[in-house]
Amino acid sequence: MTDRLKLSFGPFTAPAKGILVVFCDDGLKFGGATAKTLGSAAGLVVRAAKAEHFTGKNGTSLELIMPEGLKAGRLAVIGVGKVADLKSKDFLKLGGIAMGKLSASATDGAVFAELPGGAMKAEQAADLAQGVRLRAYKFDRYKTKHKDDEKPPASRNVTIAVGDVAAVRKAFASRDVIADGVVIARDLVNEPANVLYPEEFARRTLALKKVGVAVEVLDVKAMTKLGMGALLGVGQGSARDSRVVVMRWDGGKKGEAPLAFIGKGVCFDTGGISIKPAASMEDMKGDMAGAACVVGLMHALAARKAKVNAVGLIGLVENMPGGNAQRPGDIVKSMSGQTIEIINTDAEGRLVLADVLWYAAKRFKPKFMVDLATLTGAIIVALGQEYAGMFSNDNELSHRLHQVGEATGELVWRMPLNPVYDKMLDSKFADMKHTGGTRWGGAITAAQFIQRFVADKTPWVHLDIAGTAFDSRQTDINKSWGSGWGVRLLDKLVADYYEK
Ligand code: BES
Ligand code: MN
Ligand code: ZN
Repeated sequence: MTDRLKLSFGPFTAPAKGILVVFCDDGLKFGGATAKTLGSAAGLVVRAAKAEHFTGKNGTSLELIMPEGLKAGRLAVIGVGKVADLKSKDFLKLGGIAMGKLSASATDGAVFAELPGGAMKAEQAADLAQGVRLRAYKFDRYKTKHKDDEKPPASRNVTIAVGDVAAVRKAFASRDVIADGVVIARDLVNEPANVLYPEEFARRTLALKKVGVAVEVLDVKAMTKLGMGALLGVGQGSARDSRVVVMRWDGGKKGEAPLAFIGKGVCFDTGGISIKPAASMEDMKGDMAGAACVVGLMHALAARKAKVNAVGLIGLVENMPGGNAQRPGDIVKSMSGQTIEIINTDAEGRLVLADVLWYAAKRFKPKFMVDLATLTGAIIVALGQEYAGMFSNDNELSHRLHQVGEATGELVWRMPLNPVYDKMLDSKFADMKHTGGTRWGGAITAAQFIQRFVADKTPWVHLDIAGTAFDSRQTDINKSWGSGWGVRLLDKLVADYYEK
């Protein structure tokens, strides 16, 4: 983990050095402890606010250097707007903004988790702290040189001042390990493909054993025996062997059907023989973001001892144009028995999912399956980088995901599935083709294809995360290329609806 943050909680006391971060509302009002700490500096804030046209609107901030009356070298005042409007994701964002001030000043600091009405509630302060952690993340393990010869500090001490320290620590415990899960996912996505190939990815999942997850790795021999011809066809052009990893967390009732999470893990996607253009191909190291999310999620569920049975399955391959690579026109047999005519070898993700989804439903008979995949450029055309595309055969599950999407800020938008698209997948030679042939509705035909490999009418959701998983939107809680998208979303889905 690369966030180099020493986070602690304590009472409201003025820091002796570094930066002090405080919050005010849109009336420039502070909480009592904050006002007391600021003392005469409060007057400076009023004058500076006037000069800077700072009104305390949510998300805005004001900074003072060497404020008289304070020992801290800097004071950052962050506006929260109207206190009554603040929701969980707003506290996350405020924590992110606070950490942004700390990073910029490159010192230790204290954040006063107080609003005009008094100390933030334990849950609110814990959300704030999670935002601090998510913002602090940095992937710099391959940087050996630093700008201006300035080495970043080995670690930074951040104290979050709160009302009830014990209550906040308790509320933060689960949010802390969920943040760990996001960090795990981000690290995997940011890692280059020469380092993170299928076997190495599988090896890294073994770390989950420490939190009580059972990990099982299927090699090429095992997959051949299972008949996973669709997945194996994708990987056959690479010098690196394919793998499937099965992760299990049994925190629920014994024998109860698990929830299943499935991830596309294309460690690098050149497109294969249908090779991609050179521009931005380097981004395709992130084509395993679905798998990364599943690993991060399994960590979060196990580390917070979620009262649920869950399985995570990831299909790990490298899509390369080697001498043994699969060709357009090849016909492969999937584990389901259905045959597939390969049209464009760059539509590899759906082939990987076809076998892993089939296997997941048959082996585990799960309550539902959610798959995550950086599957199509078409979903980025449709939804941009804000929403992930959601396809489902189940209205209740879709509705629940929509709800937790709104709450976490990891947004999902439902897209259609309909047999009217099926004719686009008709093949002259096999049971089906795997692409629609035109670019029209490309994300839908992909989902329509995957649905054919959902066995036994298992409730299922497919999330096309091509727009949200990497090269991601920079927000107050994410300055990383790989966003770790989906870990918080799916953790909340489990917590809100399946741990009763
Ligand atoms: N991994 C890509 C999709 C992708 C593209 C993700 C850009 C993120 C950013 C996927 O394997 C792919 O190549 N899809 C093709 C499908 C087409 C050949 C039917 C696409 O979207 O162009
Ligand atoms: Mn591709
Ligand atoms: Zn791909």
